[in-house]
Amino acid sequence: MSKAQETAVYTHGHHESVLRSHTWRTAANSAAYLLGSLKPHMRILDIGCGPGTITADLAALVPDGHVTGVDHAPGILEQARATAAERGLTNTDFAVADVHALDHPDDTFCVVHAHQVLQHVGDPVQALREMLRVTKPGGYVAVRDSDYAAMTWYPASSGMDGWLDLYRRVARANGGEPDAGRRLKSWALSAGFTDITATSATWTFSTPEERAWWSGLWADRTVASAYAERATRGGHATAEELRAVAEAWREWGRREDGWFAVLHAEILCRKAT
Ligand SMILES: C[S@@+](CC[C@H](N)C(=O)[O-])C[C@H]1O[C@@H](n2cnc3c(N)ncnc32)[C@H](O)[C@@H]1O
Repeated sequence: MSKAQETAVYTHGHHESVLRSHTWRTAANSAAYLLGSLKPHMRILDIGCGPGTITADLAALVPDGHVTGVDHAPGILEQARATAAERGLTNTDFAVADVHALDHPDDTFCVVHAHQVLQHVGDPVQALREMLRVTKPGGYVAVRDSDYAAMTWYPASSGMDGWLDLYRRVARANGGEPDAGRRLKSWALSAGFTDITATSATWTFSTPEERAWWSGLWADRTVASAYAERATRGGHATAEELRAVAEAWREWGRREDGWFAVLHAEILCRKAT
């Protein structure tokens, strides 16, 4: 029987406008729900590690342990390796892997972590089964995903409504589930998890600097990234429509009263001993 494998296309790609957001991420702003469970000796697998800033933070928190970062996209792993090297970390390694069919033996890791990954994969329940398989008895599977339909902002804007509608259509056409957050617990139950702690947390963008950064990266991503290409090639939007969405983002960013919140769902699951 052939192994399960990725059927989805990663919507964003790794354009500079996308990495502007990924490289801002830390264990503190993206994995706080997990940190209380970490011990210095732990062996961690970080799936879909991207440019590896969260991976590197996790490695610093397990100085007597080890963190393996894996990603389906080989190109981004060079940046992840560079991030770990710049920070002088010697307890990391990186490899190409598909979360649907991991190469590791059963019961290998103390913690298996994935941040903003399951929303992009073709079969999140199979992904969770694999994550559970490679987790040691008594270890943790930790997953966090945003939920696009639950993102909210002020002021109301038909251009921003258009952004959300377009993003969700493109992500689904690529085989992902943009409203993943609300589904994480259900997917974990389907994958056979029994001990699940479900929480949520937000990122808020409101100060002039935060608005400029968040609106700028989304405006640029909308016209210049793999997402833009997938939106036009898939017939979801014209280049002109994408430019209008980008301008809606910039307009929101200029609003002194502008406010944006990203809801994330988190599941911290313990494997039975
Ligand atoms: C939104 S990025 C998140 C990166 C990082 N975890 C972070 O939060 O900064 C999603 C990452 O998952 C990777 N990815 C997508 N599908 C995957 C799969 N089937 N197996 C492993 N990684 C995958 C992508 O290549 C991308 O680097």
